[in-house]
Amino acid sequence: MGDFYDFVLQVKSSNDIVDVIGSYLELRRKGANFMARCPFHGEKTPSFSVSRNLQIFKCFGCGESGDVVKFVQKYESCTFWEALEILAKRAGVPLPEFGPNHDEAQYAERKRKRDLYLSICKETAKFYWRAYRDERGVVARQYMQERGFDRETVNKFGIGYSPDGYSLAVYLRSKGFAMEDCAKCGVLIMGRRGAIDALNGRLIIPIFNMQGQVIAFGGRGLDEYAISRGKYKNTAETQLFIKKDNLFAINIAKEQKQQTSLKYLVVVEGYMDVIAMYQAGFRGAVASMGTSLTEQQAKWLSRLSDTVYICYDGDAAGQKATVRGMDILDKAGLEVRVVTVPENLDPDEYIKKYGKEAFEELIRAALPLPDYKLHLLDEAFPIDSPDVAVRNDALPKYVKGALNMLRVLDDARQARYITAVSLKTGYSEDYFRRKLAQRETDVPQIVGGNLVREDKAKYFVASCMLFGEDYASIEDKPLCNSAFLSDLYDYLLDCVSKGVKPSPDMLYTVCPNATDEQYNEIIDVDFDRARYSINKRYFEECKRLLTAEKLLIKRDELMNEIKKDPSDARLLDELAALSKQIADLRQTV
Ligand code: UTP
Ligand code: MN
Repeated sequence: MGDFYDFVLQVKSSNDIVDVIGSYLELRRKGANFMARCPFHGEKTPSFSVSRNLQIFKCFGCGESGDVVKFVQKYESCTFWEALEILAKRAGVPLPEFGPNHDEAQYAERKRKRDLYLSICKETAKFYWRAYRDERGVVARQYMQERGFDRETVNKFGIGYSPDGYSLAVYLRSKGFAMEDCAKCGVLIMGRRGAIDALNGRLIIPIFNMQGQVIAFGGRGLDEYAISRGKYKNTAETQLFIKKDNLFAINIAKEQKQQTSLKYLVVVEGYMDVIAMYQAGFRGAVASMGTSLTEQQAKWLSRLSDTVYICYDGDAAGQKATVRGMDILDKAGLEVRVVTVPENLDPDEYIKKYGKEAFEELIRAALPLPDYKLHLLDEAFPIDSPDVAVRNDALPKYVKGALNMLRVLDDARQARYITAVSLKTGYSEDYFRRKLAQRETDVPQIVGGNLVREDKAKYFVASCMLFGEDYASIEDKPLCNSAFLSDLYDYLLDCVSKGVKPSPDMLYTVCPNATDEQYNEIIDVDFDRARYSINKRYFEECKRLLTAEKLLIKRDELMNEIKKDPSDARLLDELAALSKQIADLRQTV
């Protein structure tokens, strides 16, 4: 960044915006500014204003604004770098050796790599496919046959075989790929004696992305020795493949949705579960590949369906991380249902043992997520135990768990489940309602939405600082929920620490990719002297609001600690003090 940034600053400081724009347009002086007819939208009366003082332009007609570089870029319809070149030439600033914008180069490089890795994966898949199907693939074919998979299924999933450690490298080299690139792509490993197949001797399960391109491979060990080194191995993570964000067989689910219809998706843990389900006629099965669910995966899923069944192995199903994953799907707006497979079997084993109709029955009996959570509570806290002592101990814990479950529900579902939980526990519905309401006023929702007031404050404070209002100073960076604000505050606080005055045109340099709305939110503030005291007062209010926002986070942390140890009086006192402080700060003057 350093060199490039310095170069941009040098170009800007040697090109006065009024001179530059004046060479393109006819400027008329009007007060402290210069006016012209806006070159970016047709108009008869000039509403395009240029400020020498601030080194920015702004059109009050179309809302376009920017610094000198952005003007040239827009006017000449050229790239950022080309605009810099034009301005550098104009002012006699020598061009730096490193050439065009770093980011663009980086982007091109990422794209080149992506294409390269995709073609390596594609060739590798071809190689494995053939090895599975010719004389080398006997073991692998036998294995799949013994597991009951037919040829059609095997082909559908592109199952392959790695015959040995060296053949893949020979093949890829013959296709013109550099071994280093194949190693970076994860299919080869650079060993002491050359490049080795990363999935040496394994049954190969290609992993595809949503567009149906191969992006990685899973390899199942077929003998004791291989299994001792990991039943499954994956090729390394690359920019194409991030294990926790991908879903195995998402391409097949998508195809299904396009071809016929997809009533629901089923998320399972293992490759073989997906493959077995496919063969049994369940075409919307995908696998999370052994990790808990992420928001990215929730996005993939919600593109394909609005109902998701989760079908995990018995040991994983009740774990905290698993339930958290389900909550992530729920939050993404998916209808989540949890399937329980008896006898600790996985879907593949269950279908083999009891048939597909029986599995269908399990799906039909799946519990909606809230019911499933209650079921887990039932198991953990036996409130129906005949033993009074056990019952008395379990009940408050169960109620607490139920409150947590209720808390994340929307109003309609909450009302329904309050009734159910009240019947179950004997606590009144009113008790639950009160508890839930209490908590809601206790902890203002600061995450996600509801930030309007704080957001406005962040823009206003930044604006006051950028335009050098004398009262505008803050000590630390507020919470920023956009790259725009974050970058802008980094710049502003950097100025504070260096003791220099921020310069308004830098808005376009430190935040080059913001929207007109974002820029305008900053530059449209009226700093007329007549408004001085109003602005000053509003600034103080905003500053307090931002301090309060930070304290709210602190309070959330405190609440979490209290949840762990509700009897700690010291923590409760701290909470009360903090709450008071926040309330005072948030009060409008
Ligand atoms: P399972 O062991 O449940 O997989 O692991 P599975 O598909 O039922 O395996 P089979 O039936 O014994 O062949 C679930 C998933 O976790 C990942 C794989 O994605 C697997 O499908 N896993 C498991 C690994 O990545 N490495 C391992 O060593 C084991
Ligand atoms: Mn299995």
